[in-house]
Amino acid sequence: MTSAHVRKAVIPVAGLGTRFLPATKAVPKELLPVVDQPALQYVVEEAAAAGPDQVVLVTNASKGSVLAHFQPNPDLEAALERSGNAELLARVHAASQLAQVSTVDQDEPRGLGHAVLCAKDAVGDEPFAVLLGDDLIDARDPLLQRMLRVRAERGGSVVALMRVPQSDISKYGCANVGELIGDVVTIDGLVEKPAVDDAPSDLAVIGRYVLDPAVFDVLAATPPGRGGEIQLTDALDVLAHRGFDGAGGGLTGVVFSGRRYDTGDRLEYLKAVVQLAMEHQDLGPAFSHWLRDFVRQDSSG
Ligand code: G1P
Repeated sequence: MTSAHVRKAVIPVAGLGTRFLPATKAVPKELLPVVDQPALQYVVEEAAAAGPDQVVLVTNASKGSVLAHFQPNPDLEAALERSGNAELLARVHAASQLAQVSTVDQDEPRGLGHAVLCAKDAVGDEPFAVLLGDDLIDARDPLLQRMLRVRAERGGSVVALMRVPQSDISKYGCANVGELIGDVVTIDGLVEKPAVDDAPSDLAVIGRYVLDPAVFDVLAATPPGRGGEIQLTDALDVLAHRGFDGAGGGLTGVVFSGRRYDTGDRLEYLKAVVQLAMEHQDLGPAFSHWLRDFVRQDSSG
C-alpha cells in the first residue's frame, strides 16, 4: 500500500485540559471555540483536506460531546431548517460530513505514545497520520499533504519539524538531523523535551506525523520516558535508528515554515483566536478595525 492511500488519521483527545481549567471542567478543551468553531474541527478539516477521511479520536468516557460534534444533530438541523437559517444549517451539517469519525478509549492518561498505541486495532496494518489538536496549521499551508508525498517517496515515517528559538526547544521533541535538502531531512534521532544545552538542533517536532504501522510494535515495547509517560518521540527515535530497512524503519523530517497556531496554552490560544479572527471572512474586517483602534488607544493612554 502506498501513502497515496493513507486513509486514517488518529487524533488524541483524551487529555484533561488542565491548563484551561475551570473552562474545561465540563467542556472538553478540544471543543473550546477558536472564533466560531471548535479547535478540533479545524484539525479534522485539515486531515480530510489532505486525504485521510477516516478519523479515529482517542478519547475517554468523559468526552462524549467530542464525537457528538461530528455526528448529525437532527433536532438542531430541523430547527434551523424551520427558521430558514440556511447558512447556519449548512455549517452545522457540514461538521458531520467531514469524515467518518470513530472513537477508541484511552482509559488512563499514560502519554501520547500510549494514546497512539490505543488506536492500533482501529488503524490496522497500514500507514496513518497523527494530528495533535493543540497545533493548528493554516489551511493555506498544506503541511500534511506535503508529508504524505514525502512518505510516498521515501517510505518509513515522517514528522513535521519547525525551527524554534533555542530557549523554547525544551517544550518539544527535538531532532538530530542530517543534511537538509529543500524542506526534507533524514532524522538520525529524536529526544523528548531536552534541556537547552542537550538539544541536538533547533528543530522541534510539531504535532503532525505520518507513521508506518511498524510504530505499534515499537510503542508496545517502549518503557515510560519523560514525565513517566510513554512517549511517541521515544518510539520514533527507535525507528530513526533502525534506518530505512524496508520493514517500516527510517524517519524523515519535513521542515515547516508556514503558519501554525498553538492552542495549547492560554496565551498562545488567545493569539490564535486573534490571528484567525483577523482573517475570518465575515468578522475579519470589523474585528481588525476595532483591534487597531483598541491598540492605538491603549498605547496612547
Ligand atoms: C507533544 C510531543 C512533543 C511535540 C509536541 C508538539 O508534546 O510529545 O514531542 O514536540 O507535542 O506540540 P506535548 O505538547 O503534548 O507535551
